Amino acid sequence: MKTIVTAGKGGTGKSMTLSHLLKRHILGNGFGRVLIVDADPHQSLTRYLGVQPHTNLGERRHKYAQELRTGQGLEKKSRRDFARQLAQEAITPLEGGDLLVMGKNDEPGCQCVVNTLLGNALDAVAEDYDLVVVDNEAGIEPIGRQNWRVDHLLLFSSPKGAELDVAWQILERADDVDRQIGAAYLLLNRTYTGQDLRAIYADLQKKVSSTVVLGRLPYSEQLDREEYPDETWLAALDKAWAYVHQRMQEKVLL
Ligand SMILES: Nc1ncnc2c1ncn2[C@@H]1O[C@H](COP(=O)(O)OP(=O)(O)OP(=O)(O)O)[C@@H](O)[C@H]1O
Ligand SMILES: [Mg+2]
Repeated sequence: MKTIVTAGKGGTGKSMTLSHLLKRHILGNGFGRVLIVDADPHQSLTRYLGVQPHTNLGERRHKYAQELRTGQGLEKKSRRDFARQLAQEAITPLEGGDLLVMGKNDEPGCQCVVNTLLGNALDAVAEDYDLVVVDNEAGIEPIGRQNWRVDHLLLFSSPKGAELDVAWQILERADDVDRQIGAAYLLLNRTYTGQDLRAIYADLQKKVSSTVVLGRLPYSEQLDREEYPDETWLAALDKAWAYVHQRMQEKVLL
């Protein structure tokens, strides 16, 4: 199982961009069994994909709240089987892959038990897939429980300092918590024609290892206004993806 994961400050274009990558390049394009995980409680990726899932993992967990509290009705199930059942109930099949929406944790008090259960549910089904694509709220700590390796990290930022700073913090945090990252790709979104990005390139060389490469996506007025990209933006996305895809194939051959 390989993973592609998004990260970056809020509003940098993670979900919108990933929805187009999935539609144009990933689903039905020879990646085998694909699981898309919408790990953002606000479910923007699901919306951008134009999907209305029948349920989500948080909701399924809620449905079993009574059983989970009392243990009644679950006696014959191992924890793993129950986690697997929850995830399978929450999956929405799409053309070319499956979608798992994590949803919200609506239990009061400590969220760790709830999060563990949702994470276990994701882990229980993830191994059935060749590629798992995760869209996050911001950082990458919440994905999976068993310290999943992030094979390909799509790190989003505009050229603005505050957003780049969050991108670097995410990489540092991944290091701190020993979250392994195979290759990280910085996607600079909302760039302008003629914008001088040399300072960012230089900073990049200093701050992070050579695994980080730069893709560049232009600001698109149409995307901003109508949530639908223009051809220039899509062409830039295709170019950035071609690079990522090439790296993915090289890694498979290694
Ligand atoms: N290059 C761009 N030019 C103009 N608008 C853009 C561009 N990229 C994304 N947007 C717009 O920015 C908004 C936020 O995008 P998106 O929801 O993908 O961000 P996000 O990083 O997933 O945010 P969050 O962390 O809150 O989930 C959307 O309305 C999207 O259309
Ligand atoms: Mg998002």
